[in-house]
Amino acid sequence: MTNWEEVDTYAKRWIKEAGERIKKSFSEDFVVETKSNKNDLVTEIDKGTEQYFITKIKEVYPDHHILGEEGMSSRVENLEGIVWIIDPIDGTMNFVHMQRDFAVSIGIYENGVGQIGLIYDVVADELYHVKKGHGVYMNETKLKPLVPVKVEEAIIGLNATWVTENKRIDPKYLSPLTKDARGTRSFGSACLELAYIAAGRMDAYITLRLSPWDYAAGKIMVEELGGKVTSLRNEELDMLTQNSFFASKPELHEEILQKYLQNGQW
Ligand code: IPD
Ligand code: CA
Ligand code: CA
Ligand code: CA
Repeated sequence: MTNWEEVDTYAKRWIKEAGERIKKSFSEDFVVETKSNKNDLVTEIDKGTEQYFITKIKEVYPDHHILGEEGMSSRVENLEGIVWIIDPIDGTMNFVHMQRDFAVSIGIYENGVGQIGLIYDVVADELYHVKKGHGVYMNETKLKPLVPVKVEEAIIGLNATWVTENKRIDPKYLSPLTKDARGTRSFGSACLELAYIAAGRMDAYITLRLSPWDYAAGKIMVEELGGKVTSLRNEELDMLTQNSFFASKPELHEEILQKYLQNGQW
């Protein structure tokens, strides 16, 4: 039997320590490289942070698996057993350019079921955390269940990419939504946008491309508070590949799917 209390304690300790290491890096020079394209950045701090988690986890839990964005651990082929899904820095572009609005994200899954989620906004020193069935917290404050809202009063996290010409979705679907909503926001860190939904600061988040490490922790939080997390076609997410992504308060999820996305048949 897994002692989740103990796993939670270690995970919180390590994520705080990782945050301290990242903060220290602000005063140092670090190398920035590009990955798939010129805007897809990675730094040695992303890699060092992921390696730090791997070392810590392997020391205490040698039989746990690790799926990290930077691929520093051995490949994860399935979600059997306990898998730590880690984004060492979510919002690397913000980290490099702005030194704020990035976070460390850890989702811990057992046989595909999310058990623990941690999102640490390092600069704001806000740790969002959930243990399945025990509520969601921002630091010591317990977050409230999500309250229904209509599109016209909703703030929706949405990147401008998806309402201009792009390869994944015709702008005719999401551009009316941006007109009807009270406002849209784009923070540049997917996990923080999910933490903001949990905290009631935002009502939905939509993107056409997201990886498991971006949402592994936030999904557990939003669902714990009664929200819905699916693909933009209203399918269950595959935790091992990229997906389109739609997290929202439940009624809003239905309203957006019906009015703007042809019930997922777009
Ligand atoms: C990115 C951020 C960004 C989202 C991208 C992600 P990274 O993660 O979450 O907000 O729009 O899709 O890849 O690369 O900074 O960890
Ligand atoms: Ca990245
Ligand atoms: Ca990310
Ligand atoms: Ca990252």
